[in-house]
Amino acid sequence: MTQMPDHPVLVTLRERLARIAELDAPALAAEEIAILGRKQGELTHLLRDLATRSLEEKRTLGAGLNALKLAFEAAIAARRGSLADAVRCEESRDVDLTMPGRQGWVGTRHPVTLVVEEIVEIFHGLGFAVAVGPEVENEERNFLALNFPPDHPAMDMHDTLYLDAQGSTPGAGGRVLLRTHTSPVQIRVMRAGPPPYRVVIPGLAYRNDPFDASHAPAFTQIEGLAVDEGVSFVDLKATLRHFAERFFGSRVKVRFRPSFFPFTEPSAEMDVSCQICGGTACPACKGTGWMEILGCGMVHENVLRNCDVDPERWTGWAFGMGPHRITMLRYGVPDIRLLYGGDMRLLGQFGELGR
Ligand code: DAH
Repeated sequence: MTQMPDHPVLVTLRERLARIAELDAPALAAEEIAILGRKQGELTHLLRDLATRSLEEKRTLGAGLNALKLAFEAAIAARRGSLADAVRCEESRDVDLTMPGRQGWVGTRHPVTLVVEEIVEIFHGLGFAVAVGPEVENEERNFLALNFPPDHPAMDMHDTLYLDAQGSTPGAGGRVLLRTHTSPVQIRVMRAGPPPYRVVIPGLAYRNDPFDASHAPAFTQIEGLAVDEGVSFVDLKATLRHFAERFFGSRVKVRFRPSFFPFTEPSAEMDVSCQICGGTACPACKGTGWMEILGCGMVHENVLRNCDVDPERWTGWAFGMGPHRITMLRYGVPDIRLLYGGDMRLLGQFGELGR
């Protein structure tokens, strides 16, 4: 290459040429535009300007500028190539060809969902339809129509989650709340049309309870209601025993203990022989050999009357159970909170594969 004359413009450009090999990708792109850009490029501009210069300058600058233009183009292309090589090299270093492929996730239904479906299915086979109601209720359907006295402690703020704004005036049905049980759907079913009724009512209920090993502020319930002519406590016992044998297996033992609920009279609680020890007593059944699974009773005549159902003609029975609790009893889950977390070590044992 012939020695370039030391024109000051050429000196600075040559310095910039030497630094091309150090630029990163964004700086390289910027420098390319600054030097070779078709409108503002410094070199482009100088070359275009050459025509206006003196003959002497054309001679000293012209050849140098043209040589520099070629040198810039080559240097930029070379730098761009080596930057691309570096990226490719970096990427291939991150690929571990010996690593096992990612496993696909197969979802399964939650154990409580499976238990709800199984219970509903058993009652469906006995001629019960499914009814559902809203989770937001009022005091009238959640308590009063169910024969709770107006000052019943369950209505207390400590148990019930009220939704009314502080100081707002309650509507005709009393204060608005999150239903504390699925029983208000009994009222909705009976008020929607005349008997007979045979329904199961799955759904969520809410209570202002601390989240501990045996309580959750939101939990599932399944309510049952059967009202017809000539229905008696015998029907209740026979149906619930049949349910227990279907759900827990034909060897299960069942017992009824007298209890109290405002909306049933008489009322009972049903126990089944412990699913963990089979009835010989263990920590899961607190040494009794029995596990309580539901409350039930004959529908109180006040409840029938509150729904315009004539208690002289119609009689019925009802029950309420907690699928979260039943799931725990059936599978020996020691803490209800395990059924709320998403821990696949527990959940993965259920679903279609675990059944
Ligand atoms: N509602 C009751 C509760 O949440 C459960 C219950 C008991 C429902 C007896 C009934 C019943 O229908 O007859 O504790």
